[in-house]
Amino acid sequence: MSALRTLAFLALFGVSSSQTSDCSYVGLLTHLNLTTTNDLLATMRPVKVWTTPSLVQLDMLLYGILEVDEKSQTVTTHIWVETRWTTEYLTWNPNDFCGINMLTVPRSTLWLPDVEILEDSIHRSSVVNLYPNGSVAGTARERLTSTCRLNLIMFPFDTQECNITFSSMTSDGNAIQLGSVNTDKALTYISEQLMVTKGEWELVKMEILSFNYSKTTLNKQKLTYKVIISRKPMLYVINLIIPLLYFLILDLASFFISEARGEKLGFKVTLLLSISVMLLILKDILPSTENKLPWIASYCLAIFTFVGLSVLEAMLVGYLYDLDGCCSMTAQSPADAQVDILVEDDNHKGKVSPK
Ligand SMILES: *[C@@H]1O[C@H](CO)[C@@H](O)[C@H](O)[C@H]1NC(C)=O
Ligand SMILES: *[C@@H]1O[C@H](CO)[C@@H](O)[C@H](O)[C@H]1NC(C)=O
Ligand SMILES: *[C@@H]1O[C@H](CO)[C@@H](O)[C@H](O)[C@H]1NC(C)=O
Ligand SMILES: *[C@@H]1O[C@H](CO)[C@@H](O)[C@H](O)[C@H]1NC(C)=O
Repeated sequence: MSALRTLAFLALFGVSSSQTSDCSYVGLLTHLNLTTTNDLLATMRPVKVWTTPSLVQLDMLLYGILEVDEKSQTVTTHIWVETRWTTEYLTWNPNDFCGINMLTVPRSTLWLPDVEILEDSIHRSSVVNLYPNGSVAGTARERLTSTCRLNLIMFPFDTQECNITFSSMTSDGNAIQLGSVNTDKALTYISEQLMVTKGEWELVKMEILSFNYSKTTLNKQKLTYKVIISRKPMLYVINLIIPLLYFLILDLASFFISEARGEKLGFKVTLLLSISVMLLILKDILPSTENKLPWIASYCLAIFTFVGLSVLEAMLVGYLYDLDGCCSMTAQSPADAQVDILVEDDNHKGKVSPK
């Protein structure tokens, strides 16, 4: 019995001893010299020849468009960013380590490219993934409030372009080159699938633009994700455009209200007040900094002016009417007065024509 137990123990020990050093993460960490804090790895760009540039590949997915603030011209989005680069010192053969093909280590142990979003600052997760070929991948999920110049001339049928630009803060194009892992079409497709909240906005597409720019003497590289979003205009059509059109039609229809009743002026003034309320709503949406007037503002203004003029017209007609009413003292009601005027006219004509 004890012999059997010893045998089993030996067998177990034999199996484990042949694998302990290779199958655990510790073994791999020891092989990579990451068990003790290795400051050199964290401070220096991990290339064997200093002139070799490090290619930093980025993938950005759009998880949601949380808010577009027309007044302050900012866009709040939910994004996911994967950054990938290569460290030439940390490579291993997965076959030597039971096929371990990915290792997760704290960010602080490795050199990180200082690539940031120019429109905002970003905070990343505290660990990165290490691959056998020396590839390192770090991901971040962020709520990003970025500046974006909105073009509101076509509001609410507008399409906006916002730039999210990644750039290294200190290194130039000779040290860090920027690229992307996936194509912009693939990223647009995945973003559309993942997007949870869109609000009143719809993602049209994302474009990846890469270019060099020189700031003082440094020749820097920028990777720009151009996010193109379009507004769903239905709410504004229902809340602003159609009611205004109805007000205009009502105003035109009010010409049929009899002058005699005296309600016409009151009705038109009510319409004017309703349009002022619409203008107040519009004032809350649109920024006052816009150079060119958005067409919807012109539309509101035109209708306001038209109704305003028609109120003036109603006043004038009322005044002229009263003027006529005052001179035919016999008239009991304005309708009678009108008849009197016609009769007078006829009499007058009758007197003149024989001459
Ligand atoms: C780890 O350190 C040892 C001794 O300093 C060295 O021989 C070995 O090449 C290092 N391993 C790696 C992967 O750098
Ligand atoms: C390194 O390995 C990762 C994961 O398998 C792969 O996605 C990447 O393309 C590889 N990089 C290179 C430079 O071969
Ligand atoms: C986005 O970047 C491109 C390329 O630099 C530029 O042409 C465009 O005007 C930018 N758009 C905005 C809204 O800043
Ligand atoms: C930017 O500069 C780098 C190195 O200076 C070069 O390899 C790359 O092709 C340039 N990219 C563009 C778009 O000009």
